[in-house]
Amino acid sequence: MKALRAVFAATTALCAASAANATDLEVTHWWTSGGEAAAVAEFAKAFDATGNKWVDGAIAGSGGTARPIMISRITGGDPMGATQFNHGRQAEELVEAGLMRDLSDVAAEGNWAELVRPSSLLDSCTVDGKIYCVPVNIHSPQWLWLNNSVYENLGIAVPSNWDEFVAAAPKLQEAGIVPLAMGQQPWQTTLAFQVLMVALTGTDTYMKVFGDKDSDLAGGDEVAKVFQAAATARDLAKDSNVQAWNDATNMVITGKAGGQIMGDWAQGEFQVAGKVAGTDYTCLPGLGVNEVIQTGGDAFYFPKVDDAAITAAQGELAKVMISPATQVAFNLKKGSLPVRGDVDLAAANDCMRKGLDILAKGNIIPGTDQLMSADSNQQVNDLFVEFFNNPSMSAEDAQELFASIIGNAD
Ligand code: GAL
Repeated sequence: MKALRAVFAATTALCAASAANATDLEVTHWWTSGGEAAAVAEFAKAFDATGNKWVDGAIAGSGGTARPIMISRITGGDPMGATQFNHGRQAEELVEAGLMRDLSDVAAEGNWAELVRPSSLLDSCTVDGKIYCVPVNIHSPQWLWLNNSVYENLGIAVPSNWDEFVAAAPKLQEAGIVPLAMGQQPWQTTLAFQVLMVALTGTDTYMKVFGDKDSDLAGGDEVAKVFQAAATARDLAKDSNVQAWNDATNMVITGKAGGQIMGDWAQGEFQVAGKVAGTDYTCLPGLGVNEVIQTGGDAFYFPKVDDAAITAAQGELAKVMISPATQVAFNLKKGSLPVRGDVDLAAANDCMRKGLDILAKGNIIPGTDQLMSADSNQQVNDLFVEFFNNPSMSAEDAQELFASIIGNAD
């Protein structure tokens, strides 16, 4: 009886303690597609298991729409508990304004400097030696996704690279199938251009153009090849009348389109649709030409708040997001690669394995969000959404504008 009373007292104390520590934490992000929602639910579940409460602050319309809303709430004195940004410099001004919480203590306690790979992900969180975010995944834009049955039904081998993809297109168009699905959110058109650049001219050119801001190279013959390929892509995508990236992915899943150039977040959509990598669909890293992983992806930042309970909950969330179990559960559903190499990915599918192999070989390049300011990235986005929507804009004219943007970029 005495023992039972002791157990009851302990349980009551624990509940009281966790109830006492139970804090609602609003987390903003732009993960609203089927696959994204399934993945972010893994974060919510893991955080709720700490006794705190994930208050979901999803914002539709992808990062281009969500980020200005997040930034204005933080600068406007109405901060959320935690918020998503991409790896890189998107939160630079917020950190410099002293509005974001320094997570260095949590990072040190969790040994992130040893765990996180590539280390560039943690570098992207670091300003003046302090760590301001927890990286949660590696998402590479460098993929072409193909619907196998679209090609098989037309008696064509599933393309294994960009040239074969382009060569197969007329047969798809004859059959009323859109060769290349592409949504109209500006970042999607830039993404396709970046992937074409790496595939057709290599990682050096990409690094010199977006890293060193080499406007001569951006305006030169080598990159002119990429603009010609972008003009071809524009033609192959001309009947792709959707807005959101996942609607374009759905065109591929349902056989309305043959393929899509998109980041591996597209995987989440194929999974939610019950499609099997290698059987129902094919994924070609680097368009099957230049297999690299671009270390884009996501990290969570924590606005400074004058509230001890929220500050404690922020620390808990950061720890949960990078923990081995959560990294596996989240990334398997998200289609991204985990930020730590010491986790069990036995359940990874064909495409994720390809990504892990490329990562292990070290064939990685930084994302443009890590190389250029948010403003310069936006200017490039504006140029490419215009180019892809205006068939009368020549590849030469677009390249000239691109070279001047790169020349003035920071
Ligand atoms: C990216 C983000 C991905 C994915 C994608 C589409 O910026 O890193 O996680 O969500 O947007 O919304």
